[in-house]
Amino acid sequence: MSDKRYQVIYADPPWRYRVVISKNRRVENHYPTMAIEDICALKVPSADNAILFLWSTCPLLPEGLRVMKAWGFEYQTCAVWDKVLMGIGYWVRGQFENLLVGTRGHFPPPPEELSVSSYYREKRTKHSKKPAYFRNLIASWYPDEAKLEMFARETSPGWDVCETRLIARCKSGRVIVVH
Ligand SMILES: C[S@@+](CC[C@H](N)C(=O)[O-])C[C@H]1O[C@@H](n2cnc3c(N)ncnc32)[C@H](O)[C@@H]1O
Repeated sequence: MSDKRYQVIYADPPWRYRVVISKNRRVENHYPTMAIEDICALKVPSADNAILFLWSTCPLLPEGLRVMKAWGFEYQTCAVWDKVLMGIGYWVRGQFENLLVGTRGHFPPPPEELSVSSYYREKRTKHSKKPAYFRNLIASWYPDEAKLEMFARETSPGWDVCETRLIARCKSGRVIVVH
């Protein structure tokens, strides 16, 4: 088992919803979800000085902040992805998602000349798939730091990923990383 620690962590957890709008639109029709307690309990291999980028939908904003704190990060700000098309929702129909940003220890923001708007618009495609724009943006900010993507569905150059089946099986909640 590797003891590698990561300065940059990008995570898109399989959130379980409290309210299910209709059976044929359940997230579980696409992939298994995890209870908030289990996501909080994951032992994330972050360095002492690190940054976390964590996707959270609007109904699960409190859960997103809870996970961020449980993983040892302090909330700093968030970016918004406008999906162009609206989806489902109970009160309002979701058209954007939040990328929460948190840090632990001392971690610098990106150089000023590389800073961008907190708003990004790109039409959604496959269920829950996030635009490559965000992963690429983060990598451009932190080219030399060790980077881990959690709950990835594909591998990307410059990023380690988690072995997703093993996270589910690992009773200690320790995240197993594939280099
Ligand atoms: C929100 S999706 C990630 C989407 C990805 N960011 C993308 O852009 O394509 C969450 C992923 O976590 C996976 N997953 C579900 N339960 C898991 C578990 N216990 N351990 C690890 N991965 C899990 C799901 O199969 C799903 O692929």
